[in-house]
Amino acid sequence: MSSLLLTGIAELTTVEESTGVLRDAAVVVEDGRFAWVGRAQDAPAADDARDLGGRAALPGWVDSHSHLVFDGDRSAEFEARMAGRDYAAGGIQVTTDATRAADDAGLASLLAQRVRAASAGGTTYLETKTGYGLTVPDEARSAALAAAAVDEVTFLGAHLVPTGADPEQYTQLVCGDMLEAVAPHARWIDVFCERGAFTPAQSRRVLEAGRAAGLGLRVHGNQLGPGAGVDLAVELGAASVDHVNHLSDEDLARLGASGTGAGGVKVEGTETVATVLPACDLSTRAPLAPAKRLLQAGATIAIASNCNPGTSYTSSMNFCVGTAVLQMGLSLAEAIEAATLGGARALRADRESLAAGTRPRASGSEAPIGRIAVGHRADLHVLDAPAAIHLAYRPGMPLTHAVWRAGERVA
Ligand code: NIG
Repeated sequence: MSSLLLTGIAELTTVEESTGVLRDAAVVVEDGRFAWVGRAQDAPAADDARDLGGRAALPGWVDSHSHLVFDGDRSAEFEARMAGRDYAAGGIQVTTDATRAADDAGLASLLAQRVRAASAGGTTYLETKTGYGLTVPDEARSAALAAAAVDEVTFLGAHLVPTGADPEQYTQLVCGDMLEAVAPHARWIDVFCERGAFTPAQSRRVLEAGRAAGLGLRVHGNQLGPGAGVDLAVELGAASVDHVNHLSDEDLARLGASGTGAGGVKVEGTETVATVLPACDLSTRAPLAPAKRLLQAGATIAIASNCNPGTSYTSSMNFCVGTAVLQMGLSLAEAIEAATLGGARALRADRESLAAGTRPRASGSEAPIGRIAVGHRADLHVLDAPAAIHLAYRPGMPLTHAVWRAGERVA
């Protein structure tokens, strides 16, 4: 297997404690993983070499929350919101109708375009959810398409009770036939635990059914108001609870303490990560998720795009990270870590081997992600800037210069 030496890295943000931020750095990539990381002056020889021209580099973004399998347009809803109307979960049905009406090839092509756009923006590891089918065949189709296109698939049949359905009967369907049809394509189950979507009791049933089917747990919680999402996610050991706009002091403390073992030490792979979604918060004019307070409480946070047609129609992680710095009060280092290692932790993909009994990732890859470290998957995002702070300093500028995913140049 040939090796590639990348030099000319003015600033390398490794998100790895032992190396931190390196100046005048280089990396060697071999067999899809980082084989060497350090100062350029110490770099070993390799079969091939490339000079990155004095640019900044960091791990590829890990986007741990998106909804990319959909058809239809909701720009009028967005415009009405900007004119003062509130966001309501009911808009999900509009996208569901359009998605059901799409043919397989059309839906696959829309999904592929969205994955390409995310990749061109520096995202190298992507989760996406079902949730705009809401019938057994439509959810199974969305999951199968997603499994062929992204790294991680989440079953979100419990996104909304579809128009005309009885909430209890629909919850039963999600936990029964729908779960059975979707589970072979998915690694995770998720539920929108919110007023207007699923009650805490229904959410618990969905999560417990998913767990019994071998899926890991995720929760959409505390988005539209205070609620039981965080509580439920932590109690059931979900890998993440996402949105977290409305948190009580107890919620903050629960997230801070989640995954701690004896002596208050975090036990890897057991915590509930709080995933903040800056683009969604702007697009819904919601109170920004309290990212800084979550960190102060001891929680692990992730930043994700939540790309979807209703609340966050962007897959730009550069934008999300810039916004987290500019608006949420995170330092650059905190925001980068949340959008790389934080996302990896939210997907429990930061470690070498998958826990026994955990389903394989859709990508088939088992290499850890989220850091630039020897043995980690060679996911590298090179900026057209000498330092990563340009992500916040020049918001909205096209800063992605090149992207490597598992050692392959993809953008
Ligand atoms: O994560 N909150 C629920 N689901 C999506 C929004 C979906 C939609 O409005 O279409 C979200 O924001």
